[in-house]
Amino acid sequence: MTTSPEQIPSDILLNAAIGAGKKAGAILLDYARSGFRIEHKNPINLVTDADHAAEQCVIDHLRAQFPTHGFLAEEQGRVDHSPSPYLWIIDPLDGTTNFAHSYPTYCVSIGLQLHGRCILGVIFDPTRDEFFTAVENGGAHLNGHPIRVSNTTTLNDSLLVTGFAYDIRDTPRNNLDHFAKFALKAQGLRRTGSAALDLCYVAAGRFDGFWEVRLSPWDMAAGSVIVQEAGGRLSDFRGNTLSIYEQELVASNNHIHHAMLTVLNDNPSSPTLDS
Ligand code: IPD
Ligand code: CA
Ligand code: CA
Repeated sequence: MTTSPEQIPSDILLNAAIGAGKKAGAILLDYARSGFRIEHKNPINLVTDADHAAEQCVIDHLRAQFPTHGFLAEEQGRVDHSPSPYLWIIDPLDGTTNFAHSYPTYCVSIGLQLHGRCILGVIFDPTRDEFFTAVENGGAHLNGHPIRVSNTTTLNDSLLVTGFAYDIRDTPRNNLDHFAKFALKAQGLRRTGSAALDLCYVAAGRFDGFWEVRLSPWDMAAGSVIVQEAGGRLSDFRGNTLSIYEQELVASNNHIHHAMLTVLNDNPSSPTLDS
């Protein structure tokens, strides 16, 4: 008798994702120690053989356990035609530029959608040995300990984070306008180079808010569940429910969300509002 896909218990899914994340994280550290080859997708968008090896490792690990599931991975795209309601969404190395420069802020990000809803997120930072995990309605955890968003209530007291897409040189929608505005309103502003870790850090209360204009599903899938389960809020720039397929993301501790949206929308001629 076949089991309905709906019936897979969340601890089985979570353990599988943690196993895949551990293996892929070890691969990244191996490449970091022994050396890697770099290719350019565009002048500033890199990919290394570590990205490819970690991605294949995650897919193989999960597929061995869930052969009928779908897979969407950054380097390979949609790798199957599975009609399964389960879709694993994988960024094998989020923070490739950091990795390529031996700057130790990068991670493996593994998200899972069921019928199009993000229900699980596992993000592993192998350089700090930090495992961020969440399943829908199960809370968010860092190395097994519950995490919560911060209690900061004003932008003035907030540490914010953002990022820039690889087409920054080619588009007016480059986030520099928002960056300049938040720099004058926040207590501090960071650019870490790993959107998935930025989301985890909002969930853990290390950052109070995060926004970015041109993200991909694999940057957001896992981290969105972790923020949600840590008590945070996620939306697009207008405050609508986040879609991981729509590029714009605002994640916050909830308290400063409205203030962030106000800053992001305060210029009516902004390309964000017009597009
Ligand atoms: C990038 C990082 C970065 C963000 C970029 C992403 P990658 O992902 O998450 O922080 O600003 O938009 O593309 O290429 O390192 O997987
Ligand atoms: Ca990424
Ligand atoms: Ca990546």
